[in-house]
Amino acid sequence: MQELTIALTKGRLADKTMALFEKAGFSCEEMKKDSRKLIFRNEEQGIRFFLSKGPDVPTYVEYGAADIGVVGSDIILEENRSVFEVLDLGFGKCRMCVCGSQNKEELLRHHEMIRVATKYPNIARDYFYNRKHQTVDIIKLNGSVELGPIVGLSDVIVDIVETGGTLRENGLTVLETVCDLSARMIVNQVSMQMKTQRIRDLIHSVRAALDEENGGTR
Ligand code: PRP
Repeated sequence: MQELTIALTKGRLADKTMALFEKAGFSCEEMKKDSRKLIFRNEEQGIRFFLSKGPDVPTYVEYGAADIGVVGSDIILEENRSVFEVLDLGFGKCRMCVCGSQNKEELLRHHEMIRVATKYPNIARDYFYNRKHQTVDIIKLNGSVELGPIVGLSDVIVDIVETGGTLRENGLTVLETVCDLSARMIVNQVSMQMKTQRIRDLIHSVRAALDEENGGTR
């Protein structure tokens, strides 16, 4: 049997992915144990799972170190790797938004030259330059992006909004929505040719598990 290697996004997304995979008939008991291990094997089913940071998942998949990856669509858009996106898994739902204090709305409406702090410079650039035709100054941050407007580093931020709690607690609000996001399955382009049947079967089983969860609405 050809072995399949699957890259998962460490953390909550990996937990949700494994719960779905289990429903689809692919389990990995070893992963349920609390440990610092990063790679796990299900010999019987010929599957190897590994855990990596989200932005690295498309990299592993593009280079073929993983045949399949599960990652948020924010990262797929930001990394822009050559991979096939084959399935929307429907969880990890959130939005990419332009956020700031209410009084910055005016600057956005008038396409002013503003400073934008973000962990997602490519998404921000594409949104402001290609979609809005607004020239902005993009400042890359690595986390806690909400600090940007609070300490005066930027006028607004481009960031993920899930519950809206972080924005509320920091006196910020959604000013514009860039796009909706969710977890996606991606596949290496060569693996798709070389391991076609195995990958198709896996996609089919995962899709069936999703259909069952959603009462056949997908
Ligand atoms: C993400 C995101 C927001 C927050 C949104 O940050 O960047 O800060 O979650 O979630 P909410 O709308 O439910 O409050 P994350 O927790 O990944 O940490 P980071 O700020 O270090 O990137």
